[in-house]
Amino acid sequence: VSDVIAYVRKALPPPPARVLEIGAGDGDLARALADAGYDVVAIDPAGTVPPVEPVALLEISEADGSFDAAVACVSLHHVEPLRESCARLAEVVRPGGRLIVDEFDIDRFDQRAAQWWLDRRMAGDDHHGNDAVTVVDRLRDHIHPVSVVTAELERWFELDDPRRDTYLYRWNMPGGLEPAERDAIASGAIPATGIRFTATRTAA
Ligand SMILES: C[S@@+](CC[C@H](N)C(=O)[O-])C[C@H]1O[C@@H](n2cnc3c(N)ncnc32)[C@H](O)[C@@H]1O
Repeated sequence: VSDVIAYVRKALPPPPARVLEIGAGDGDLARALADAGYDVVAIDPAGTVPPVEPVALLEISEADGSFDAAVACVSLHHVEPLRESCARLAEVVRPGGRLIVDEFDIDRFDQRAAQWWLDRRMAGDDHHGNDAVTVVDRLRDHIHPVSVVTAELERWFELDDPRRDTYLYRWNMPGGLEPAERDAIASGAIPATGIRFTATRTAA
């Protein structure tokens, strides 16, 4: 999504810089960053297409302090084991290096948000369930709340204030729904389930 690429580009130090992307998925962001002049290592245990390396955060074999920045887009909530993986991330990002996070906050995702999503999602996405209670329960069952992720990161990084924003529009939705989600949040109809923050690796 171009909005995500713009956010990450703005938050990164200017190239040249060595960047780790955690949970890179199909590699779109990694390719955009490489095109912009960054030296990118993109990892995802489910990765199948280069440049994404099929490895989990805990298993990366990179030198300590070898990254100037790390980027994680809706991936840290999936990472297991969370504590050890965050510690590994802290090892490979140099002191003073930047962490850029884009997340979905399951703590804020309630039945109103689930129903808004169910009413608009692409046909065929049924594996989270077909009613709001089930969707919320299934997600809460297997993903880390942002509060848990940030508590682990705070052991190693100084976190900047987060910005809460839209998210649902880019979760298996037809295009063009970001303004509708923004309006629904502004009117109080649904909570803001997206959250973005940056952080700085503290000195070891
Ligand atoms: C919701 S997807 C997001 C993919 C992509 N960043 C995006 O924004 O479209 C979360 C990704 O995190 C990956 N992931 C899960 N556990 C991981 C781990 N331990 N280390 C790195 N990536 C992981 C998953 O395989 C999945 O591709």
